Amino acid sequence: MQQAIDHIRKSLKGFYGQQEIESFIYLIFEHLFQIGRKEVILNDLPQLKDCDLEKVKNIVARLRNFEPIQYILGETEFYNLPFEVKPGVLIPRSETEELVDHLVKEYKEKIPKILDIGTGSGCIAIALKKFIPNAEVWATDISQAALEIAESNARKNGVNVRFFLSDILSEKEITTARFDVIVSNPPYITEKEKALMEKNVLEHEPHEALFVPDYDPLRFYRAILNHSTDLLNEKGKLYFEINEAYGKEVQELCINSGFEALVMKDLNGKDRFVHVRKTSILK
Ligand SMILES: C[S@@+](CC[C@H](N)C(=O)[O-])C[C@H]1O[C@@H](n2cnc3c(N)ncnc32)[C@H](O)[C@@H]1O
Repeated sequence: MQQAIDHIRKSLKGFYGQQEIESFIYLIFEHLFQIGRKEVILNDLPQLKDCDLEKVKNIVARLRNFEPIQYILGETEFYNLPFEVKPGVLIPRSETEELVDHLVKEYKEKIPKILDIGTGSGCIAIALKKFIPNAEVWATDISQAALEIAESNARKNGVNVRFFLSDILSEKEITTARFDVIVSNPPYITEKEKALMEKNVLEHEPHEALFVPDYDPLRFYRAILNHSTDLLNEKGKLYFEINEAYGKEVQELCINSGFEALVMKDLNGKDRFVHVRKTSILK
């Protein structure tokens, strides 16, 4: 085992920071051998077979190619729940856990009908159904591949979510159903921001899940607001995750479309969420 740890540290030095390499060690050992962080730290480790050392080397080679560890292991955690992830589906981010947290706090004792637009791995929809058990949750995406993974994640977590394919940018009605809550973490990174992004995201995660054109960065919010005239119940609310650079613009877009909107910050103090509703005063 020590040989495997030495191999990981030596081979990844210069590719990643020291802390990230240590967290890879814990994730790899947990995934391949069900050995926890504590045993690794205490060096309480059994002898490794040659074939197991090969598995470790294989993962390390892929990390040197900047493949995200979540794709290599095929799994990640979101809101303390297990999720399968593959190339073709966005790896859930911690800011999105905060978005879910806002909703869980507000709706846990209620019986809302919720629609998640751009569901990807299904992380938002599935976590909401798990922690707001009386909710009826629907979720949609333009990617059939993403919907298949989302369905498998719903089974993995033992929840019932109604998934369907749609293109929110199309003007066609996406469903005749009506909702109390629409939540969305749509693509919101502009093309010009690509220059600032890490290789592991840029070269491996699906661009259609991430990027919007520089000339129209708010296109998904505009499309969702337009559809919400039909999709939202009279007292319904929308919850968006946004690009930190566009808080004011998304807020103005909502107000100009006849809604009230409140910009909320994430744990890093950045504009990250917009809470929207049709009438009266927001809390
Ligand atoms: C930023 S990802 C969010 C994924 C997931 N909800 C999350 O929070 O991790 C945006 C998602 O929107 C989907 N998407 C992109 N264009 C779309 C469209 N025109 N209609 C519906 N979904 C779309 C992508 O396939 C992707 O899954």
